[in-house]
Amino acid sequence: MNLSVIILAAGAGTRMRSSKPKVLHGLAGIPMVEHVYNTSKTLGAKQVQVVYGHGGDLLKQQCQHFDVEWALQAEQLGTAHAVQQASPNISGEDVALILYGDVPLTKAETLEALVNKVSANNVSLLTVELDDPTGYGRIVREDGKVISIVEHKDATEDIKAIKEVNTGILAVNASYLNDCLNKIDNNNVQGEYYLTDIIALAVNDGNEVFTTQVEHSYEVEGINDRKQLARLERIFQRGIADKLLTDGIGLADPDRLDVRGELTVGSDSFIDVNCVFEGKVTLGEGVSIAPGCVIKNSTIASDCIIKPYSVIEDATIEKQTEVGPFSRIRPGTVLRENSRVGNFVEIKNTELGINSKASHLSYLGDSEIGKNVNIGAGTITCNYDGANKFKTVIKEGAFIGSDTQLVAPVTVGKNATIAAGTTVTKDTDDDTLTLSRSPQKSIKGWTRPKKK
Ligand code: UD1
Ligand code: CA
Repeated sequence: MNLSVIILAAGAGTRMRSSKPKVLHGLAGIPMVEHVYNTSKTLGAKQVQVVYGHGGDLLKQQCQHFDVEWALQAEQLGTAHAVQQASPNISGEDVALILYGDVPLTKAETLEALVNKVSANNVSLLTVELDDPTGYGRIVREDGKVISIVEHKDATEDIKAIKEVNTGILAVNASYLNDCLNKIDNNNVQGEYYLTDIIALAVNDGNEVFTTQVEHSYEVEGINDRKQLARLERIFQRGIADKLLTDGIGLADPDRLDVRGELTVGSDSFIDVNCVFEGKVTLGEGVSIAPGCVIKNSTIASDCIIKPYSVIEDATIEKQTEVGPFSRIRPGTVLRENSRVGNFVEIKNTELGINSKASHLSYLGDSEIGKNVNIGAGTITCNYDGANKFKTVIKEGAFIGSDTQLVAPVTVGKNATIAAGTTVTKDTDDDTLTLSRSPQKSIKGWTRPKKK
């Protein structure tokens, strides 16, 4: 069986009060429609079509990396009309699965169960029981079997009392879907072509409607406004936090963790409050992340300690290294085993060797620093002449005194010492002391200028 997915995303989403199409609003760092797309791919869909209307250019541009076909629904005449913009492109023997770009948290397992129930021309429908079903299409059953869906706006009081509602998500044989869509009219209160009419048509044709009920309503919740988006974001994040806790990772507060990507953590690691992880982040075992850290696309090996408010991006940090508080580790940085980076140190495109330290107030850019090097407070690599970037090399065992400027390209020799306050403009030899200060003198009886 081949699966073909149609994602409806033509609605304007006016309640978001945004110039951006609704489905582009982010959940866990990616557009909500990307969650639906990713789930489709997880299900092994051979074809995915997105029905779009409002904000099509922006949508296509931001979803360039999707492997999908785009189907325009120029006018929003209803969900059946929306599906019809895409369904004729599906091969007749495929199973069509209808998803919604604003329903981001449906689990792949749920949809797999749904799709597996499709047989012949029977329809497989996802439903949910709600305490307050106001606004939703009600599932009407006779002798337990689904006979129709009645939209809230078309419902009588008896039907309004039904708590099992339609989620809009359904799977059906594609050729039968097209047959049905051709028969659906817009004879209802809203004057729309309702996809849900397919249920009554199927029943009329003597086919069955099999249902799958989701346990948690968030799986089928559609996002209409920013409050709902924020609520689903928290539910999603809580799911990640619960999984980490189950896997043996300590969290100071599971409600104050944000993962916007893929976070892998080794056992006995601990994450304190208000940390944000973006992209692909891997933490080894026994890693400790203090409050307020932002870590993106990085690998941090076992037993590292990341102290408060450190920002780390595109970096590799080897085991037993300490970073922070208030360190900024920028792309291309490698901190070798047991190194130390302290407060107000910015490091970019630099390798800091084993056991080396840069403990305070420094900028190290485009440099290669060997093992057992000490970088004194206030050391700056002057890597940029306004047009080009140059490299600084500091060989193993070197000691860089405080407030040194290293004007790149420049190399400091092995075990070399640079005196505090030196401006290094030429390479220094191994085992030497380099200093560029003028000798200190004191002028006796000197008086400060007085105001005239
Ligand atoms: C729909 C269902 C209802 C169900 C509810 C669950 C129908 C007729 N009704 O109602 O039974 O309980 O979802 O949330 O299907 N869309 C388009 N083009 C259109 C119309 C809609 O792309 O012409 C998209 C919208 O962007 C939205 C989704 O389809 O993402 C649902 O449409 P909406 O009109 O909001 O349907 P509901 O009234 O919520
Ligand atoms: Ca509607």
